[in-house]
Amino acid sequence: MDKHNGYGNAGMGFIDGAYTPVSEMRIPVTDMGFQLGDMCYDAIHVHKGSFFRLKDHLDRWENSIRERRYTTLDFDRDQVAEILNGCVARGGLKDSMITFVATRGSPSTAHKDLRTCNNRFMVWALPYYKVFSDEEERTGSDIVIADTIRIPPESVDPRVKNFGRLDFVRALFEAYDRDSKYAVLLDREDNVTEGRGWNVFALRGGVLMSPDSGVLEGITRRTVVELSEKLNIECRLTKVPATTLRDADEVFITSTAGGIMPVRSIDKKPVGDGAPGPVTTRLIDLYWKLHEDPAYSTPVRYDVAAAAAE
Ligand SMILES: Cc1ncc(COP(=O)(O)O)c(C=O)c1O
Repeated sequence: MDKHNGYGNAGMGFIDGAYTPVSEMRIPVTDMGFQLGDMCYDAIHVHKGSFFRLKDHLDRWENSIRERRYTTLDFDRDQVAEILNGCVARGGLKDSMITFVATRGSPSTAHKDLRTCNNRFMVWALPYYKVFSDEEERTGSDIVIADTIRIPPESVDPRVKNFGRLDFVRALFEAYDRDSKYAVLLDREDNVTEGRGWNVFALRGGVLMSPDSGVLEGITRRTVVELSEKLNIECRLTKVPATTLRDADEVFITSTAGGIMPVRSIDKKPVGDGAPGPVTTRLIDLYWKLHEDPAYSTPVRYDVAAAAAE
């Protein structure tokens, strides 16, 4: 195993116009994605051979590209979809996490005028993984509320999914120091935002709440909003003060990497009775059932891999 590539050895990717094993993917050190964190991305999953909410992920991706002013990408929406399919099919993956990234690219002069960059596009598909371990998914996880505040949206728009995450990194080391692996960040007014890779929900007095702003508009979050309508549970996207999270009856996080995952304690204080609550459990069940609904899933065309090999 390449000691610098860890988990990335297993999958199939695409970079600079060619399919490439993930372990061999490289970007030049002159790419502004590396030097400035000037990039955006999206992450989608394949469950039992089908993409989940492909259209919604592509819509969010297109919005990010527009916001970041990446005007020299070589691949349009349909081509991006084709390449996502190509990576999963070539990797032979039935359950996969796929990350697709645009970087600003390398400037053509040493003055680093960003307008001279050719934007770079890359994708990697890995076997499916989750934010929480299997055990934590069953029993709930222990999270902390970090002292580090989330980078304000006026500086970096969190709706443009990006790897500029030094606030999360700092918060995670706070969590490690407090015997936890997960940190949720507040904004400057002590309202809840999100964690690295996930949105958060609190259930209190029968009402579900999740932050309305200062966060990535997660596709899983949207799915929970839709599912709670079906369950006749009131769900509000609103300001969520830290005290609401601390006093909640149930708390869970949402992410493409794992779906809906229960939280059993916050800052070492149990949430509810310290076990996943009935609403969380019901939502988890419905979330995975929804993957069987053709309105939400797009089958991977695995035959493209065989055709390419001929
Ligand atoms: C900062 C952040 N918030 C929330 C999420 C959850 O979004 P989604 O449900 O679309 O995966 C992610 C996903 O990676 C994220 O990076």
